[in-house]
Amino acid sequence: MLEENYGLTCTVKELPGERDRNYLVRDSEGDSYVLKISNAGESQDHLNAQISALECTAKLLEQGKIPQVFPGKNGELLSRVCTNNNIKHWIRLVSYVDGITMAEYRPHTREFLFEVGLACGTVTKALQDITMQPSASKHLWEMHNAIETIQKYLPCISENKLRDLVNQSLELYSKVLTPIESELRHGWIHNDFNDYNVLVVPKLNETPSIGLIDFGDMTHSYLAAEAAVACAYTMLDKPDPLEAAVHLIIGFHQQFPLEEKEIKILFPMILMRLCLSLTLGAYQLQNAPENKYLGISQKPACELLEKLQEVNHRYAHYLFRDACGLEACKVTTEFRKWQKTATGSFHSLMGEPLTNKNTSMLDLSTGSPISAKLQWMSIDEQQEYLERILLEMNAETAVGKYAEVRSVYAAEEFHHVSLEGVEKRTIHLGIDVFAAAGTAIFAPLEGIVHHLKDNNNKLDYGPTVILKHKPKDGPIFYTLYGHLGRTCLRKLKIGQTVRYGMELAVIGESTENGGWLPHVHFQIILDLFDFEGNYPGVALPSQQNLWTSVCPDPGMMLGLGEKSNNQEIDYGNLFERRKKVFGPSLSLNYQQPLIIVQGQAQSLIDHKGQFYLDCVNNVAHVGHSHPRIAKAYSDQAYVLNTNTRYLNHINIKYAERLCELLPEPLNTCFLVCSGSEANELALRIAFSVSEQKDVIVLEEAYHGNTNTNIDISPYKHNGPGGNGPPEWVHEIPMPYVYRGLHRDAVTAGKFYADHVLKICEKLSLHGKKPAAFICESMLGCGGQVPLPDGFLKQSYQHVRQHGGFCIADEVQVGFGRAGKHFWSFELQDAVPDIVTLGKPIGNGHPIGAVITTQEIAETFANGMEYFNTFGGSQVSSSVGMAVLDVIELEGLQQNSLETGNWLKNNLKELKQTFPLIGDVRGEGFFLGIELVLNPDTKEPAPLHAEYIVERLKSRKILLSTEGPGHNVLKFKPPMVFNHQNAEQLIGELEHVLKETPLQLHLY
Ligand SMILES: Cc1ncc(COP(=O)(O)O)c(C=O)c1O
Repeated sequence: MLEENYGLTCTVKELPGERDRNYLVRDSEGDSYVLKISNAGESQDHLNAQISALECTAKLLEQGKIPQVFPGKNGELLSRVCTNNNIKHWIRLVSYVDGITMAEYRPHTREFLFEVGLACGTVTKALQDITMQPSASKHLWEMHNAIETIQKYLPCISENKLRDLVNQSLELYSKVLTPIESELRHGWIHNDFNDYNVLVVPKLNETPSIGLIDFGDMTHSYLAAEAAVACAYTMLDKPDPLEAAVHLIIGFHQQFPLEEKEIKILFPMILMRLCLSLTLGAYQLQNAPENKYLGISQKPACELLEKLQEVNHRYAHYLFRDACGLEACKVTTEFRKWQKTATGSFHSLMGEPLTNKNTSMLDLSTGSPISAKLQWMSIDEQQEYLERILLEMNAETAVGKYAEVRSVYAAEEFHHVSLEGVEKRTIHLGIDVFAAAGTAIFAPLEGIVHHLKDNNNKLDYGPTVILKHKPKDGPIFYTLYGHLGRTCLRKLKIGQTVRYGMELAVIGESTENGGWLPHVHFQIILDLFDFEGNYPGVALPSQQNLWTSVCPDPGMMLGLGEKSNNQEIDYGNLFERRKKVFGPSLSLNYQQPLIIVQGQAQSLIDHKGQFYLDCVNNVAHVGHSHPRIAKAYSDQAYVLNTNTRYLNHINIKYAERLCELLPEPLNTCFLVCSGSEANELALRIAFSVSEQKDVIVLEEAYHGNTNTNIDISPYKHNGPGGNGPPEWVHEIPMPYVYRGLHRDAVTAGKFYADHVLKICEKLSLHGKKPAAFICESMLGCGGQVPLPDGFLKQSYQHVRQHGGFCIADEVQVGFGRAGKHFWSFELQDAVPDIVTLGKPIGNGHPIGAVITTQEIAETFANGMEYFNTFGGSQVSSSVGMAVLDVIELEGLQQNSLETGNWLKNNLKELKQTFPLIGDVRGEGFFLGIELVLNPDTKEPAPLHAEYIVERLKSRKILLSTEGPGHNVLKFKPPMVFNHQNAEQLIGELEHVLKETPLQLHLY
């Protein structure tokens, strides 16, 4: 047939198809086509409409993204063939569209769904250029016949519950459709933008490209149905289906703007498409009961319909309005107008008006010192702290602001599983007025008691009153009063009228108000949805527009005006400002850099109050913003902070404590301000004491940012912009068992140490000695590489025998990080002559130290003074001691050992499943995961590593890459990283490793 009609010599393979029979055709030149043999009942008009649709769409979509129809030998796009029993069929030859189905493709990120929406909108726009008139024939999947079709086939559904769900959906659809039906736009639509017709070409670290096939169901119907159909399939199997729909709609609307009425019908239409699928599926199953696949394929649609039945349809409508750039809640504009005219007519909530004099605004936003401090305090401490603030501000009442981003909401109820892992609700929708428990509150205006409820879960509202208001000249709305005393629940009755200024309730005690500092949470609500007696007081940042539209600013009603409306810092232009003010050699992480405003233990928190699990900041050793460290700093800053030219017990004590942690004879300490300074001083000591200049370093080592440190850091001087090593620096190969020069773990230590020996011998030949051999005790920039057994011990022997000093750089890996030992050089059973410390030593405060032997220190004191202005200051010393205290008090070294081992074992298990993981290595909380394209060739996979880092960031885990091939995921978290965090990391990593783009380029 192909030869006769198209002149093709080819191979043929059948493809799936519901209406047509489809065949994959490959010709002798390797080009691919699809031969479509239409159903005998298919009309020529419908096929011509499809051809026209493809031609129109080809003008707007990138080439190759939809099938192109090829003419036959006769020059026609449609040809006729006849079967043996004389049945006639139309045939077409179309180009093969590359890609995998959207159903198979993962991840469905927000950006991806937006792209799908863009493609869907583009196709819809293109189809409006079709000039053919629609035919009168009806087909089953048309939205304008949906009610009829569903009613007809509903009896095929045997399950009562499912039938009820379909009936409820029908009812909603009819109710919303009837008043607007005549005003809905009609046009040509593809009508089957489903996840098996959307084809995706995956790409690593780029947006995948999207194609579309199968125009066989195209029809002339409601234009809104196009978006609704695409949404229905996109929402399948999603943790939050509406979120998926929203991102698709944003894309669709950008290409093909939806009208207000279309947005209104969208949600009920989505339900209709699911109902069509379920009823027609049940009908097909009735006719082919042996086809088990039919039953299975209905399951996701069934689950989705069930899930969506729980959704308030106005809520979905508001979400979709917002996605299309409209005010989410239609009543809001009217309410705002009314509230403005009514200003001045409200009774004060607290009896006394809240004025500039007696009221102070609190900054409880993420990143504010008040909120950061409050989270570590008991309720009594919080009360005391608040009173102190009020005293300082000379105010009686404190107010917490509307629309403020807050990260204090820690309970599970504030977590939402979104397309990208957990999103926390952080946007405050009311205003908090803080006052003593028992303080009376009054109705700002007349209303009816609508709900009364004791929401007595921890961190909930406690006793809550909701009043309904029906102002004469404004819309109906509600006011909510949360965290009240319990008595109001007895005194008030539902349905009771509450007069203007009537005493409503009193502020509750912490014991009854959900466990908060006494205050009242006051919120205006324009739509209660289906909530009864409770209502979200905090919203997801991704839904801020919706919720601030439904819950407008109550500041005016409280007499606070704009003051209590949070004015968000302008984060929008931070990138530009940074580029202008900082030199460009300062780099930023991630394609879309994060805005980080707060740290808390093992998390960094962004400007929207979202928590990122920090797996890379080893500087925040005992946890970000640890209160004990902050207190040590602050307390000492009040007392004294000066240099080491006076006798003082604090810096001496600190130096003694550090030295006690090191093995003999390392007993003499110099306090400096950074790791770079420590290495700089260590080299100065080695140069001075040995009276030599040559230094032996490791390939890919990094030791700091000063000139001499760059000289001894091959990672820098051999990297981009570097000028290579000076002649006094000698490099040995990285002792890297996985992919280095010597790969036998048993002998590698000796062989790599032999390279050190060789350099020593070469120096001897020139009458020189090594001044120093400097080596990290586990390699950081080299790619999280633990040293092979015996390497340090033997290298030290060689160096010492040739008169040099051995420097252990513990800047990255000291202070218990290795788990088994406090110092990582102890893993090698070796003792250096000089140890340099930095990073974790001050938990972020700039401290460094050099610890050596008394003998070396005495020889170094040759008359030239060593002075360091800030090194050994009392504030730094107090901070350093607090770090040592916390490591011990919180058992952090043991945690690093146990949690680190658990993690390493689980990573090794992942390695069994995912050949992309070539190596898992390291100790304690210093681990490396090396990614390779092929475990045999060990070819580095830097693009895969970048992909994982970016994807994990989207899922709120911070990791980064390391190593000369940029293909090692480095793990070195704050030491408070716990077992639950480790489970989260393993779970998310596994999730990402399964994603489609990561399967590319592996061989
Ligand atoms: C091993 C090592 N030594 C020294 C330094 C220098 O420390 P700092 O940047 O704190 O001066 C670094 C910094 O990354 C390092 O990784």
